[in-house]
Amino acid sequence: MRHLVSIRDLSTEDIRGLVDQAVGSEKENEQGGPNEIHSRPGELVGLVFLEASSRTRVSFECAAHALEAKPILVQQAGSSLEKSESLKDTILIFRSMGIKVFVVRCKSENDLLELTKISGVSIINAGDGKREHPTQALLDLTTLRSLYSWEKLAGKTLCIIGDLKNSRVAQSWSLLAPKVGIKLKLASPEGWKPDWGKDFEHSTNLREGIKGADFIMSLRVQKERHSGPSDTITQEFVNEFQMTENKLPAKALLMHPGPVNWGVELADDLQNHAQSLILLQVKYGVNLRKAVLSKIFDALLRDR
Ligand code: CP
Repeated sequence: MRHLVSIRDLSTEDIRGLVDQAVGSEKENEQGGPNEIHSRPGELVGLVFLEASSRTRVSFECAAHALEAKPILVQQAGSSLEKSESLKDTILIFRSMGIKVFVVRCKSENDLLELTKISGVSIINAGDGKREHPTQALLDLTTLRSLYSWEKLAGKTLCIIGDLKNSRVAQSWSLLAPKVGIKLKLASPEGWKPDWGKDFEHSTNLREGIKGADFIMSLRVQKERHSGPSDTITQEFVNEFQMTENKLPAKALLMHPGPVNWGVELADDLQNHAQSLILLQVKYGVNLRKAVLSKIFDALLRDR
């Protein structure tokens, strides 16, 4: 695995390998074992973030430190990106300084695939405009895998709710779910149904959408990506699609990629709820990103 731009880049075997490594038992991660994670003392990891982030950025920083690598943070504010230097030129100049692995969060107008054509670097997608957020979907899956075997996960149902049209997490899940046998259902207002949604059961009624779901993932309503009247957060949206303690089925587990707009997509009564996996998702974010960095460094070293 030289780059991770899309879930499309991964086979089922790759996904299971990364996730098992991230769930990791000490036994599985023993030296020389199939899931061994290699330390990378002194290697540099460029974290290029053109959009705000807490979880993804800091978990990649923690993951790099855990591998004894050095994360170098480059944000739009304070860098020459602010002076209109292109993302491609940014990667080229940092490559000249010895950075070969780049974790990139960018806007829809940027082109991550173009960056993968730069020789001698690896690109990891840390959230690509409205397109994909593969490490988030993989860490969500890692959280579920920490609770169920692959055999038990296959056949479970995940319902993703809310601002699907703007969600890179949901789009990555649309590619991930079929690869691991999880059934994906969607629920949103008609106007927030994404183009890729035609391949999945979609409901404009929350109770119908979540019927039979083992896992329920509410999405952040992404006000910063909204334009036009159909994107307004209405009281009707909150009434119909906000998940509340009362609406949450007794056996379903609640997920959210974060950050949460409490009082919009999730009601305050779900904070610290016993069925919530939200903080566990954050915990597995570090493990999953450690596994991804390790695999990317393995591939780079092989190519050297
Ligand atoms: N889920 C997610 O990508 O969160 P951040 O924007 O905080 O990284």
